[in-house]
Amino acid sequence: MKMFFRWPILVLAMLMLGLVACQDDSKEAAFSVADLPTERDVEVGKGLFERGDGDAPACKTCHTTDGEDGPSAPSLKSIANDAGDRVDGETAEAYLLNSIIAPGQHVVEGYRNTMFSKYDDKLSKQQIADLIAYLLTLN
Ligand code: HEC
Repeated sequence: MKMFFRWPILVLAMLMLGLVACQDDSKEAAFSVADLPTERDVEVGKGLFERGDGDAPACKTCHTTDGEDGPSAPSLKSIANDAGDRVDGETAEAYLLNSIIAPGQHVVEGYRNTMFSKYDDKLSKQQIADLIAYLLTLN
């Protein structure tokens, strides 16, 4: 009889553990480069970088592109050259995509995982592809 009352508590405890796990900001990327449109607009990407869109904050609020590291985020000057060397086996494009939609997967040395983590939800795949096209011009 006692067992009968303990089960719900166990189930509840497991549910709560699951919830805590979901709040982890270092989530996996929800999609890959192959899911992105191949037609991309650099100018649209630049606009998104500078102004954001709706609930998606502008990248510029944290990142510069002039080489001056911000107080809380690295400059993205020359990211087009560096992106392909950041993670073994990741192309520049894949690294940039993961940096945008799953920023906790690879955290730049000297920084913490404080980047906005919902771009996968707040931007369309087309917008993310345009942003990547723009980042690939920063060399
Ligand atoms: C709230 C501040 C913030 C915003 C907004 C933000 N970032 Fe970041 N970003 C960071 C921080 C902090 C890091 C370093 C830690 C890490 O790697 O996650 C970073 C890392 C990166 C990196 C990896 C840089 C490297 O040298 O390897 C890229 C690429 C990047 N961000 C792109 C973007 C883009 C594109 C946007 C806009 C869509 C954006 N970020 C918006 C804070 C921000």
